[in-house]
Amino acid sequence: MNPTHAVPFVDLIAPHLEMEEELLAVTRAVLRGASFIGGPLVEDFERDFAAYCGASHAIAVNSGTDALRFALIAAGVAPGEAVLTVANTFIATGEAISQTGARPLFVDIDPRTFNLDPELLRDFLQRECVLDQRLRRTIHRRTNRPVTAIVPVHLFGQCADMDPILELAEEYNLTVVEDACQAHGAEVHSAREGRWRKAGSIGRLAAFSFYPGKNLGACGEGGAVTTDDDDLARRVRMLRDHGQSKKYYHDFEGYNGRLDSLQAGFLSAKLRRLPAWNDARRRHAARYTELLRPLAPAVIPPHVPASSRPVFHLYVVQVPDRDGLQSALAAAGIATGLHYPVPLHLQRAYAGLGYRPGDLPRTEQAAQRILSLPMFPQLTDGQITATVAAIAAHLGAPAKHAPETAAPERAVAARV
Ligand SMILES: Cc1ncc(COP(=O)(O)O)c(C=O)c1O
Repeated sequence: MNPTHAVPFVDLIAPHLEMEEELLAVTRAVLRGASFIGGPLVEDFERDFAAYCGASHAIAVNSGTDALRFALIAAGVAPGEAVLTVANTFIATGEAISQTGARPLFVDIDPRTFNLDPELLRDFLQRECVLDQRLRRTIHRRTNRPVTAIVPVHLFGQCADMDPILELAEEYNLTVVEDACQAHGAEVHSAREGRWRKAGSIGRLAAFSFYPGKNLGACGEGGAVTTDDDDLARRVRMLRDHGQSKKYYHDFEGYNGRLDSLQAGFLSAKLRRLPAWNDARRRHAARYTELLRPLAPAVIPPHVPASSRPVFHLYVVQVPDRDGLQSALAAAGIATGLHYPVPLHLQRAYAGLGYRPGDLPRTEQAAQRILSLPMFPQLTDGQITATVAAIAAHLGAPAKHAPETAAPERAVAARV
């Protein structure tokens, strides 16, 4: 390994050093107030995060997985039903669906954005489902299950193509729950509304994760549900707190899914920095794309449609010899990631769903070709140029820009 080129995949130390005094002040306040779960810090964060997303309500919960599960349950998804989503996502998307008692049904992706392809969604609904116009119910023919919801995943920090998805959802009477766990602050332009819309304000409900490596990450676990619907917000609040309407009065069985006030305090401090951090990620992405352009088609940078303003939770390129490049970068001290190496429909956990290799060809091809390059707000230009130079060296192409600065190796999160 060449230590002058060491580039971590994500740096979870720098942001916390940058704001250490503020985080310590939050810790002191929580210890002195002894309000550890719920309370004013959680309420303040919920208010500010809802405003940031452009939603009426944010309900802070324990994790992104809980956020998705509570959003689906609150939306009325029930055992015996089916929910449409994609297979190239973190398993939590599938778990949240299955754990409501519903069955995930996977639709293939747009190979350029890696997000749900609305044309294939239409195809799926027309060919594999029947719409009972009178009852306004959509039935999946093969499993005979009512299809009641759709979970578009805004993967890598880029919103799915929401206009056509919302139109299909209206036509087939499906509830849209956004998986915005990787997309804090991402926007998509709605031609039908003539305005940009933020992740978390588009579907009936949306789920966010505050896992530490996310664009907005806690110093532990955390998540949130956003919605404009007062009733759904109330249901999610009850679901996260054992179905309580008031202390020890339980209207239904819920979960222990609350956010700690310490995490809420940390998240409020970080939320104030999120716009600048997202801007930094966008600048780094633009720089990568500029430097990688001469290497096309051996390396394909992320595709950003004109209707999209992503926040680059991850910067994911496509390369034919992905494993070779990943090993070469590792040898040069550059850490990379795979998001995700095995699509959900081919995971052992979902063998029971009956999918086979070849069922989702675009998703499967993406899983072979994708490589996530180092991406975090504090990434330096030297680290970006070093990464691109190492890619160019592996491909036998001349590096356009030599690395300028050395960077020390830092903590690498196991998962982002
Ligand atoms: C797309 C997606 N969905 C759901 C989740 C689940 O979030 P959490 O890890 O906070 O439970 C994650 C986070 O890893 C994610 O990336």
